[in-house]
Amino acid sequence: MPAVVQPAPASRLALPTAETVVGVLGLGYVGLPLAVAFGHRFETRGFDVDGCRVQALRRGEDATREVTAAQIASAGRLAFTDRLEDLRGCDVFVVSVPTPVDAARRPDLAALEAASRMVGQVIATGDIAVFESTVFPGATEEVCVPLIEAASGFACNRDFFVGYSPERINPGDKRHRLADIVKVTAGSTPAAASFVDALYASIVPAGTHRAPNIRTAEAAKVIENVQRDLNIALVNELAMIFERLQLDTQAVLAAAASKWNFLPFQPGLVGGHCIGVDPYYLTAKAEEVGHRPELVLAGRRINDAMAGYVATRVSALMQRRGIVVAGSRVLVLGLAFKENCPDVRNTRVVDLVASLREHGMEPQVYDPWVAAADGVALVDEPKSGSYDAVILAVAHDVFRDLGAERIRAFGKERSVVFDVKQLLPARAVDGRL
Ligand SMILES: NC(=O)c1ccc[n+]([C@@H]2O[C@H](COP(=O)([O-])OP(=O)(O)OC[C@H]3O[C@@H](n4cnc5c(N)ncnc54)[C@H](O)[C@@H]3O)[C@@H](O)[C@H]2O)c1
Repeated sequence: MPAVVQPAPASRLALPTAETVVGVLGLGYVGLPLAVAFGHRFETRGFDVDGCRVQALRRGEDATREVTAAQIASAGRLAFTDRLEDLRGCDVFVVSVPTPVDAARRPDLAALEAASRMVGQVIATGDIAVFESTVFPGATEEVCVPLIEAASGFACNRDFFVGYSPERINPGDKRHRLADIVKVTAGSTPAAASFVDALYASIVPAGTHRAPNIRTAEAAKVIENVQRDLNIALVNELAMIFERLQLDTQAVLAAAASKWNFLPFQPGLVGGHCIGVDPYYLTAKAEEVGHRPELVLAGRRINDAMAGYVATRVSALMQRRGIVVAGSRVLVLGLAFKENCPDVRNTRVVDLVASLREHGMEPQVYDPWVAAADGVALVDEPKSGSYDAVILAVAHDVFRDLGAERIRAFGKERSVVFDVKQLLPARAVDGRL
């Protein structure tokens, strides 16, 4: 039975103080840097359901390579746990759990729902739960709040409060870190909004942007990624048109970019758990309210087809050179979904490998950033002179540092180099997007 409900003491939600205790649920790419930042200022309890991750973090090891052992150690008021009970007594619960899509590309809210129930089990009157996960407009209030209420027996905005502050970090990006990116904040009441804003202002020197309500903040986050996805889809489509017109896409883009308001997007594979996923959160909500989002879904279709397009281009180049495609050995440089990080979630290089196989090729993948990945055999060290084609799929600095000559040297005397990421000069490759 739920406890007898006491009205929240108004003073509890005044503003965060040095005594505020913060719990962070989910210690991945987003949650760990947050927990470390909070751990400098507040007593912070970082909680993750993955006991192995918690053990590793206690040893100062972060497999995402976002935070160093020294940075973890410097957060003097941070402790890690995989016991939910340890979150009891926190005043603020910051939720940063995954929000992927399922096989049918519908929002998969299982982790968010589980975390909401967990918050409901340990929340006390006057506390606040702040969601950071990327969601569709309305998810916090329509999905998370009822679960917290059901598990706690409390009522939102009477006994506890909620907030939303979307995460904008960019894995592997050492220039735009948590502290450098303006944080959007919102709360379920004016007092909650002030609390959330002050909480983040205390750890983000770049400052905050206070959105008028939670749904606006949720929408703002998701459209950041929709916009990026669509802009990349546009240049991907342009790259396909220019290939048929025998124009160099990069030369066209460089010329167009000399105008002050031309947006400098580049063609490529769109993977990862954000840009290629978040648009489906918005489109699902749009359809729920009776709008079929033509443009957003068209962009998704174009970007999802790019791996197949690259495989077809490589196959055509090989045939033009008289290289037998069936049974050919192809080296794919890079598996991570983006440069300089080990994150392979939703990487479209997996599609590239599958498409190359459909053409009868035998692809091998080399990625020094990635230790292992399901369903993809990684080579430790590619052998020089042994491939019919080399595809630069991810712009890791290590590949840039190898340079055109050494990359070409992986190929046999008659071979093809294709650059998906515009890493090498045009003259050094046989094809590029
Ligand atoms: N990674 C990014 O660059 C990025 C950027 C902006 C927004 N986001 C969003 O932030 C959210 C988190 O992403 P991420 O990249 O940090 O994910 P992640 O997979 O790196 O980490 C999530 C962590 O949550 C843990 N977890 C799952 N369920 C849990 C639960 N009920 N309680 C506690 N821990 C739980 C997992 O074990 C994992 O360690 C997602 O909604 C994502 O879309 C991510």
